[in-house]
Amino acid sequence: MNAICYVFSGTGNTRRVCERLMEEWRALGHEGTLNMMRADVEAEDPTPYDVVIVAYPVHAFNAPKPVYTFLKKLPVAEGKPCYLVRTSGEPLKLNNAAGVVPARILKKRGYDVRGEYPFVMPYDIIFRHSDKVAARMWRAAEGRLPSAAREMAEGGGRRFKIGALRRMASFMLRIEHPAMPVLGRTFRIKKSQCIGCGKCAKVCPRGNIRMENGFPKFGGSCVGCMGCAFSCPKDAVRTSLLNAWRVNGAYTFEGESAQDSEIGRYCRRSYLRYFHEMEGAAQPSCTQESAVEEGSLPSGNA
Ligand SMILES: Cc1cc2nc3c(=O)[nH]c(=O)nc-3n(C[C@H](O)[C@H](O)[C@H](O)COP(=O)(O)O)c2cc1C
Repeated sequence: MNAICYVFSGTGNTRRVCERLMEEWRALGHEGTLNMMRADVEAEDPTPYDVVIVAYPVHAFNAPKPVYTFLKKLPVAEGKPCYLVRTSGEPLKLNNAAGVVPARILKKRGYDVRGEYPFVMPYDIIFRHSDKVAARMWRAAEGRLPSAAREMAEGGGRRFKIGALRRMASFMLRIEHPAMPVLGRTFRIKKSQCIGCGKCAKVCPRGNIRMENGFPKFGGSCVGCMGCAFSCPKDAVRTSLLNAWRVNGAYTFEGESAQDSEIGRYCRRSYLRYFHEMEGAAQPSCTQESAVEEGSLPSGNA
């Protein structure tokens, strides 16, 4: 079987998860291709592939806008098996609402969305998780990815049922889509810190940053992925209204994992439930109790 995995990723978490997913997929004897959703990368035609995987980070309890745009341009494919993979910084059930619109678009284009795989990865906005917590998140994801690949290969999987209130909250927060290009225009560089390396411009999945007189200039197609601020080696990017939430510098994902007692107070119960479920039963996520089968999915996977 041949899979294509389309990935939108601002700061590398979703990409990391999908690279490992593809390794697991190939270890099962299948072929797998990763295709980044980036302005400078051409989208591959999914037609020759048997399975389509669509992966993205959760932004304000939704998928980032470029994911919608990308999916709307996919060729119609009647009944092609499709899976959604997403990463989020916290294990709140509301994050599962980020699958509603992508699944709807894919369904309209004929794809058979069979399963959703949410993974919690460290925050790239709001606050920085400790490296120990990040290591535990990664180990939890690593533990689940082999069975996720197997389920996809077997045509299984399951979807999340999202109640009306969560749909409504997610819909309202979609204000992020029109707001970010406006806000992104006001991102600035602290010139005394910037070394003009151009890393922010290279990282930006939108091609929204160009170097002008040795300094980055921000255009009007920002989606707030935070790739620029996160990857700046000098922490020179100032993200306007979001500046206090800026997170700078890659996580190592190495070393010791946090113990339960080292999980902070913020959403503590949700994180612990997520870790215990992932580490114990290798089930999808903390949102398991809200998950129900939709359509005619194979019963062995519920
Ligand atoms: C603008 C923005 C909004 C976000 N909103 C959410 C959110 O609603 N819920 C959540 O759990 N994480 C949220 N996050 C955190 C990311 O989903 C998380 O860090 C993700 O793993 C980043 O993936 P990436 O590195 O592939 O871009 C947000 C991040 C950004 C930049």
